[in-house]
Amino acid sequence: MLLPWLFLSSLGPAFVLASTYCTALDACWPSTQIWASLNTSVDRYLIATCPPAAPCHVLDPLFDEETCAAVNTSWTSITYWENGNASCYINFQLDTPCKQGLVPVIVLDAHSLEDVQKGINFAREHQLRLQIKASGHDFIGCASGEGSLLIWMRHVQNLVLLPEFVALGALNGTKSVKAIRTGPGDGWANIYDLANRSDVVVVGGTGQTVSSAGGYVMGSGYSLLSRHHGLAVDNVLQFTLVDAFGKKVIANAHRNSDLFWCLRGGGGGTFGVVTEVIHKTHPAYHNILAATLTVSAPNSIELASVLKVYLDLQPSLNDAQWWLTTAVQQTSFVLQAALFTPPAGVNLTQVAHEAFQSVILAAQNLSMSPVFVVQKFPNFLAVHDTFFLPSSFGSSAVLASRLIPRHVFENTTTTTLLAQAATEPFAVIFNLVAGGTVSKVLPHATSVNPGWCKALHLVIFASGWTSSTPLSTRDILWQTLTLQTSLFEPFSEGLGRYLNEADRNDPDWPLSFWGDNYKRLLETKCKFDPLGVFECPKCVSSEVFGS
Ligand SMILES: Cc1cc2nc3c(=O)[nH]c(=O)nc-3n(C[C@H](O)[C@H](O)[C@H](O)COP(=O)(O)OP(=O)(O)OC[C@H]3O[C@@H](n4cnc5c(N)ncnc54)[C@H](O)[C@@H]3O)c2cc1C
Ligand SMILES: *[C@@H]1O[C@H](CO)[C@@H](O)[C@H](O)[C@H]1NC(C)=O
Ligand SMILES: *[C@@H]1O[C@H](CO)[C@@H](O)[C@H](O)[C@H]1NC(C)=O
Ligand SMILES: *[C@@H]1O[C@H](CO)[C@@H](O)[C@H](O)[C@H]1NC(C)=O
Ligand SMILES: *[C@@H]1O[C@H](CO)[C@@H](O)[C@H](O)[C@H]1NC(C)=O
Ligand SMILES: *[C@@H]1O[C@H](CO)[C@@H](O)[C@H](O)[C@H]1NC(C)=O
Ligand SMILES: *[C@@H]1O[C@H](CO)[C@@H](O)[C@H](O)[C@H]1NC(C)=O
Ligand SMILES: *[C@@H]1O[C@H](CO)[C@@H](O)[C@H](O)[C@H]1NC(C)=O
Ligand SMILES: *[C@@H]1O[C@H](CO)[C@@H](O)[C@H](O)[C@H]1NC(C)=O
Repeated sequence: MLLPWLFLSSLGPAFVLASTYCTALDACWPSTQIWASLNTSVDRYLIATCPPAAPCHVLDPLFDEETCAAVNTSWTSITYWENGNASCYINFQLDTPCKQGLVPVIVLDAHSLEDVQKGINFAREHQLRLQIKASGHDFIGCASGEGSLLIWMRHVQNLVLLPEFVALGALNGTKSVKAIRTGPGDGWANIYDLANRSDVVVVGGTGQTVSSAGGYVMGSGYSLLSRHHGLAVDNVLQFTLVDAFGKKVIANAHRNSDLFWCLRGGGGGTFGVVTEVIHKTHPAYHNILAATLTVSAPNSIELASVLKVYLDLQPSLNDAQWWLTTAVQQTSFVLQAALFTPPAGVNLTQVAHEAFQSVILAAQNLSMSPVFVVQKFPNFLAVHDTFFLPSSFGSSAVLASRLIPRHVFENTTTTTLLAQAATEPFAVIFNLVAGGTVSKVLPHATSVNPGWCKALHLVIFASGWTSSTPLSTRDILWQTLTLQTSLFEPFSEGLGRYLNEADRNDPDWPLSFWGDNYKRLLETKCKFDPLGVFECPKCVSSEVFGS
């Protein structure tokens, strides 16, 4: 017995609550011999880790110029979270030794479901703080924690086309569907390649390295194809996972359906460690119309007046089935658009021009020179690779998001206010990714925020920092972000995917994030993980287990 146990009954669901986790800073941390025996049992896949920039710090015991140069070269693909006050920067404060910060102390580089079982059992027995990481792209540092053990899922790969999939436990005679099975180590780039070769599409994200069986799919991941096929969670047929007791569990509509519901929106790192996801596929698109419109204005007031014209168009562009993403940056915006089901037998270049004509005219009328480019693509992969370069990962970002419902875009007073708010200092990205099939899914069919059903847009607020951005500047970034997000608050139907500082400090954040689905999420968490083996910041039950 390492630590005292408490029972909390006031929480509703009866969690068995450890007063604290055992971290590397504590005397209860397993001895070297105990770690060595775990290492042997997992084929020596345990790695003792240090902050990646440590070799660049002259006073650090790990200082080594050659290693530093190698780390520096691949810096943007390293996605550890170390922000906190014990950071180890690559090009900042190099004359101080590094502290471990939030970088996990030991990493289990899992290669199989069995490795995951051993890691979970070990963490539970020793009451360790356990982290789960696939790509490490989580933007609120969900896959990092002080003094923790990390199970890294990059090498659990499972990619295969299943021409005739029937969920386990389905009634005899259930019709099979074409599906793609993936593991957390399979990023979208490989899946899209397989889908393209198989002449199907899957509802995936835009990041090449983002995991197809981690935070994207368990959070409310969205896709260019969501308007046609729903969110990623609406397309999951089955999960295979290891639960908090180290047991292999299948969750689908027939087996462990309560857990299945939670995994579809309740977030990663909370209910178990997923080793396999079966994604529904859909017939490929072969005649795709795409367009890019770039507008630059002399000042933000003029940009807002053009943007307003564009925002007013959203209901009709949605009805015409356009996918849109529009990045606004104070005095300019870039809009990318795709129509996967364009009308037949008409001039598509003309279709694109007509769709955005009023925006182009509004810009020209103010003496701007908008640039409009129309393209046609033979498959999804070609659109994806044209719009989303494989470069964007590893950057630190401050982010927030809000779901904005259709009626906001139908009201000319509110589009004026939105356009003004969007031209404030932060980058604001309007994503027309809801509507369509997303709005036809019943509000509580999955555990995503029910606000998705009413929404048209997921609006994301973003700013990056580099490792040399001083902490005081980061505070200002957070404050600015919070201010700008608040301008959208009156129009919001709930938080989307990302929380800002104010959201995190909001005592009602679970409600804003999951709406009235939260109660059921918490109850099921209690049933499957009463000990809080899986705990992460701002996850279901982190108000219970968080420290
Ligand atoms: C370049 C880029 C493009 C993006 N594009 C999109 C997009 O188009 N649409 C969209 O919706 N989002 C997009 N995102 C956001 C992305 O979906 C989230 O950052 C997501 O959380 C990443 O999930 P991950 O599993 O890859 O990351 P991680 O940081 O490894 O994990 C995220 C969370 O899931 C947990 N987790 C990871 N693996 C597992 C597992 N196997 N079992 C249980 N829990 C697990 C972690 O503990 C953590 O809590 C993009 C991100 C980037 C960087
Ligand atoms: C596990 O074993 C491997 C191989 O002997 C070794 O390289 C690694 O450092 C060990 N891990 C830990 C955490 O000791
Ligand atoms: C890392 O590379 C950048 C750009 O090449 C350089 O400016 C910087 O000094 C390097 N940092 C270290 C610690 O070597
Ligand atoms: C680091 O932050 C923690 C809380 O986040 C605080 O208790 C501690 O005093 C800080 N340490 C330093 C050196 O600022
Ligand atoms: C379904 O089929 C299996 C084997 O094909 C059989 O054993 C089982 O009894 C069947 N179940 C029902 C409900 O018909
Ligand atoms: C996608 O598939 C098509 C055949 O349908 C093929 O011509 C094309 O090269 C593939 N694209 C990529 C990027 O592999
Ligand atoms: C289609 O429309 C564009 C723009 O109006 C025009 O330039 C082009 O010639 C038309 N193409 C055909 C085949 O008619
Ligand atoms: C162009 O600007 C004038 C005023 O400068 C305005 O009256 C007119 O409605 C504008 N036209 C369009 C298409 O925006
Ligand atoms: C439009 O929005 C404004 C501001 O929120 C509101 O006062 C007005 O009632 C709305 N109009 C309609 C028709 O809903």
